[in-house]
Amino acid sequence: MRKYLLEDEWLIIEEGFDREDHKRSESLFSLGNGHMGMRANFEETYTGPSLRGTYLAGIYYPDKTRVGWWKNGYPEYFAKVLNAPNWIGMKFRFNEEELNLDTMKVSYFRRVLNMKEGILSREFIASWSDGKQIRVETERFLSMKRREIGAIRYYISPLNFSGTLEAELFIDGNVVNEDANYDEKFWEPVDQSGDGANCYLRSRTKKSAFDICMAMHSECLFLNGQKAISPELIVNQQYVSNRYQFDVKEGDQIRFTKIACVTTSRDYVPDQLLFNAGQILDHAVISGYENLKHEQITAWADKWKTSDIVIEGDISAQQGIRFNIFHLNQTYTGYDPLLNIGPKGFTGEKYGGSTYWDTEAYCLPFYLNTADKEVARNLLIYRYRHLGKAIQNAEKLGFTDGAALYPMVTINGEECHNEWEITFEEIHRNGAIAYAVYNYIRHTGDDYYLAEYGLEVLIGISRFWSQRFNFSDPKQLFVMLGVTGPNEYENNVNNNWYTNYIASWTLTYTLESIDFVRGKYPDDWNRIEQKSKFRMIPETSRWSTILNHVFLPADDNLGIFLQQEGYLDKEQLLASDLSPDERPINQHWSWDRILRSCFIKQADVLEGLYLFEDHFSPDIIRRNFDFYEPRTVHESSLSPCVHAILASKLGYIDTAYQLYLRTSRLDLDDYNHEVQEGCHITSMAGTWLAIVEGFGGMRVIDNQLHFNPLLPQGWTSLSFTVHFRGHLLVIIIDKRSVRVIDQGDSAMELFINNTGYQIKPGTELTVQL
Ligand code: BGC
Repeated sequence: MRKYLLEDEWLIIEEGFDREDHKRSESLFSLGNGHMGMRANFEETYTGPSLRGTYLAGIYYPDKTRVGWWKNGYPEYFAKVLNAPNWIGMKFRFNEEELNLDTMKVSYFRRVLNMKEGILSREFIASWSDGKQIRVETERFLSMKRREIGAIRYYISPLNFSGTLEAELFIDGNVVNEDANYDEKFWEPVDQSGDGANCYLRSRTKKSAFDICMAMHSECLFLNGQKAISPELIVNQQYVSNRYQFDVKEGDQIRFTKIACVTTSRDYVPDQLLFNAGQILDHAVISGYENLKHEQITAWADKWKTSDIVIEGDISAQQGIRFNIFHLNQTYTGYDPLLNIGPKGFTGEKYGGSTYWDTEAYCLPFYLNTADKEVARNLLIYRYRHLGKAIQNAEKLGFTDGAALYPMVTINGEECHNEWEITFEEIHRNGAIAYAVYNYIRHTGDDYYLAEYGLEVLIGISRFWSQRFNFSDPKQLFVMLGVTGPNEYENNVNNNWYTNYIASWTLTYTLESIDFVRGKYPDDWNRIEQKSKFRMIPETSRWSTILNHVFLPADDNLGIFLQQEGYLDKEQLLASDLSPDERPINQHWSWDRILRSCFIKQADVLEGLYLFEDHFSPDIIRRNFDFYEPRTVHESSLSPCVHAILASKLGYIDTAYQLYLRTSRLDLDDYNHEVQEGCHITSMAGTWLAIVEGFGGMRVIDNQLHFNPLLPQGWTSLSFTVHFRGHLLVIIIDKRSVRVIDQGDSAMELFINNTGYQIKPGTELTVQL
């Protein structure tokens, strides 16, 4: 763990420059606006360790897969969201010496991410070996209001010398991905051009043929005297810039402004990209930097209005949760159902920017509760659009008749993962996609979603489960063999309880949903029945037979569900038996040793008890928690949040708080020594869950909202907002009371500690605890 950032409610602050921390900070201080994002690279030249990364949502490349041993059914490629041309770049030379913090002496440095306003800024004073000293202040943002626009202000002052300043503000298309499998370049040049202070660069991805246009406008102004300088235009292959050259003297302050626009062929026909980029850029330039900045502050204020969480009495926790909410809001804004959330968002290359089950299992509730319902709906429609590919994916593995297996990792619906134990076996992901449909509907009340999109997906998934279960003669029950559960430290196991449970739940929910749609939306049912060639009697009766005979492994002596058959045959050790220098075990032990051990990477049985909590008594949940939590090493960032929620429910408040801390500041404090690769965006949603469902005790039961709060010792109060069925509620919890403010326009009933209360729109309800 490396703690080097200052604590503040709204700011992430780094003071002093340590080259060792730079790659970490590049991840942590990343910016995004749903359409594009970038690591917190310096604008100016930096030759020290750095991962330069600019990413455009949905612009990917099918990088040829690299595997040791090919297996039928493996994908040919791994789709990667690409490192895109760098438009923030600037170069500065004073009397021929380059401004480069790697080679200069840095006497003052402060980098700040203002999460309230969505602005990244930096100030530093640095000197060359001959003592020439300069001061720089910069700020930049990616507009939340105009998603194709980004802007930078860069102030530079020579503090103790005069001379010639050469500045070059550029767009550079010569970029590579650090994780390219064969060191290939993924972009090919299309065109570059310019006109005075406006420059354009057009590139196309190889194979996937996405076209993009990056445009920039630059300005340079002497602040003392308000003298503007005109640039010289430079156009090279895949590189365009504005070069400025002039004399400066001690005490001068020069201000550079760069406004950029990025358009892609995901939104416009390729022929129009340049024209559109030019127009959007012109509008932004006419509007002016200050106005764009003002819009940015207002847009973020609106985001925070419905997504902020306020924790009083614990600044570290407050900063942690805002950091997570900030990143979630900048990663996905829900404007396009073809986009989704990669585990690293726009903060790094790992995981290729692709979609995992993380979206449905962890992220969806965050967007459901903090944004308009269309945002969460678009996450669901993303999977609906991939249904055909999921059916093809299942066919490749030998399934038939419309059975759908969604990929473990995807950008366009095709499977990209190529480790057999995950690609072929970690099939529980299908269950999370079905659960998301249920979760969305119970939260929003939008039951037409089932008829419009959801039921087709459920049928495809249920057909898969129905074929994947097989009848065991000795057991006289349906079993599911050769799977990997959420705990990836066990592969090829038989009857993973979680997978069997979520599979059978899906069958039940699909049967109920068919009845519901047939009754309420008969025309839609006719369409679905024909489209999916549904055979009512044989299909539903097979599902019902399975449901009546599913094998769910359990141990009656211990009173627990078994993670899989044979789990208790393993040597039963506890995570506390491991010495600290063996952890994380995935970095210290052989894979074979991990597989044979009882240690659990992430919530598995407990994931099921979390999702289906109301199917089980508190006593059963407690026994399973007491058994599995001490065996869990939490080596996936998706794990501690689920345990934290269950611990809160069980009243284990100190355990809940300890687990919560691991999720909340996982990246800020770099618990896993890997933040330089990017932040854990999808697990950030888990932190939100740990607060709202854990300490806030929020649940939706029988379509109604319940709160059973329990605050950690040091917190004096906690407040958050929740969108629920057309209501926007503000919940304020302290040690003595719960206050609810309803900003909706109709009355509703909600439950606090199991007692029902009516609340009228625009009023406040206070319940003493
Ligand atoms: C976890 C998976 C998760 C993936 C991406 C892995 O370490 O075990 O459950 O989907 O990371 O976040």
